[in-house]
Amino acid sequence: MLHTPDHGAARAAARPDALPDYARRRTFAIISHPDAGKTTLTEKLLLASGAIRMAGHVKARGERRRTRSDWMEIEQQRGISVTSSVMTFEKDGIVFNLLDTPGHSDFSEDTYRTLSAVDAAVMVIDVAKGIESQTRKLFEVCRLRDIPIFTFVNKVDREGLDPIALMDEVSSTLALDLTPLTWPIGLGVDFRGLIDITAKVARLATERGGPLVREVPFNTPEDLIGLDGVEERILTESLESLTLALGVLPPFDLEAFREGHLSPVFFGSALKEAGVGELLEGLGAVGPSPQPRGAAGERTVEPGEDLVSGFVFKVQANMDPNHRDRVAFVRLCSGRFKRGMKLFNAREKRQMAIANPIFFFAQERETVDEAVAGDIIGIPNHGMLRVGDTLSEGETIRFEGLPDFAPEILRRVLLADPMKAKQLLKALQDMAEEGVVQVIKPVSDPAPIVGVVGPLQLDVLAARLEKEYGVPIRYETTSFVTARWITGERTEVERFMEANRSSTARDRDDAPVYLARSQWVLDRAIEEWPKLKFVAVKERG
Ligand code: G4P
Repeated sequence: MLHTPDHGAARAAARPDALPDYARRRTFAIISHPDAGKTTLTEKLLLASGAIRMAGHVKARGERRRTRSDWMEIEQQRGISVTSSVMTFEKDGIVFNLLDTPGHSDFSEDTYRTLSAVDAAVMVIDVAKGIESQTRKLFEVCRLRDIPIFTFVNKVDREGLDPIALMDEVSSTLALDLTPLTWPIGLGVDFRGLIDITAKVARLATERGGPLVREVPFNTPEDLIGLDGVEERILTESLESLTLALGVLPPFDLEAFREGHLSPVFFGSALKEAGVGELLEGLGAVGPSPQPRGAAGERTVEPGEDLVSGFVFKVQANMDPNHRDRVAFVRLCSGRFKRGMKLFNAREKRQMAIANPIFFFAQERETVDEAVAGDIIGIPNHGMLRVGDTLSEGETIRFEGLPDFAPEILRRVLLADPMKAKQLLKALQDMAEEGVVQVIKPVSDPAPIVGVVGPLQLDVLAARLEKEYGVPIRYETTSFVTARWITGERTEVERFMEANRSSTARDRDDAPVYLARSQWVLDRAIEEWPKLKFVAVKERG
């Protein structure tokens, strides 16, 4: 006989009304390769939560047809993104803050930063494709921070890989334990429904391709054998593979999940709204509430602390080119934020009155104008707030964990009009503060170099410099393939800089940077300068 494992831990939702406000928050992002179904899943999560009116905030798909390097696409995304950057919805007393990661196919630093502001992620995988390149990169970022990950295997209404083979591939590619919480009954044209392993219920469609409205409870999955309305062949195959999966895969373990070692897997079809409710329930039941966050000086800020703290993970210029104001997105880490509050900016060393914050949870009437740990607030400002800034009430706090990544693409910036050198520097500084690009000043060359992780960032920069600052630029390739921050004893760093004048530079904080002409050259420098470190990731702030 097949025993379904006791997934009690997966259903151990505390009674939300008995919890402090922050503990009812689930702040998460969806990571996926383009086309796996992130947008569709977002819409269907909003629908499943009952926040239907919010669904309009999600990008209309037709609006964002993807063509690589399409500037218009980015333009449109910026236009709608202040409203769609954070989507908040509530279900069964749990408040979900879903942070949008940029939808374009390029990999950018924005995504990293958004992931620094969440407590969990949902990894969407196309059942026919398994792990794709971008999913893998995003997953690695989550792993850096040990973010717990839910896996949603999407498009089970289409032909796909056998669920066991798929899980095997995901598990070995990512070196991640998986445990299924739902299981498909058939794939593609055979798709008949889902087995909710935790709730011990089979959810079935009453008509081919229809919604899964019929519920059949069971004690052990074998009880389902002979179920009318599902062909025996399909059911037997599904139960056999489920038996096999449960036999070889570890049971759900809350601790392993919270530490990022084990991912619960939900099968489903976002398009058909199958398996989405189960995912939402899982997020509410076992998804982490706002977590403590490490700050400089061995200080850990607990979400339940009285005083407000938070950090800027994203800065977005407004669409109005006449007013160079921006919205800084702040993830709150503790306290209860209220409109009009004064917060201290640790980098600028000054107080800032937060007069017109944008709240993203309008439907929660009793807490309008207030936000707690896990929530995101938008702060309009004129450039005072940078990505990585910490805001706090009372004590000065500096949060850690918002890194800059060594750029993989380096370009020299050349001006079409040499009279605009000053404007260019100012514009580049703004763009660097917003996190669009990194700006690096070579020691022996006046033309600044911009560094990016994905090539789309270069198009964004050029278009914005021209449109918003009236500074047309063009790029020139450099002979450098990568950059590294140089750390070590000051005299040794200076000795290195002196010996390598033509391939060293300073970043916007004046930190020394090595520009390597090839991986081989970099490896040699590492070997020849053992007292120095050549680091690819630099903490901000
Ligand atoms: P993305 O945000 O991850 O890029 O993916 P998106 O949701 O836009 O989905 C990409 C395509 O996959 C869309 O089709 C969407 O309808 C489809 N899709 C998403 N989820 C499912 C699913 O569960 N089953 C099936 N069969 N298809 C799914 P498209 O043709 O590109 O767009 P559209 O013409 O349908 O709008």
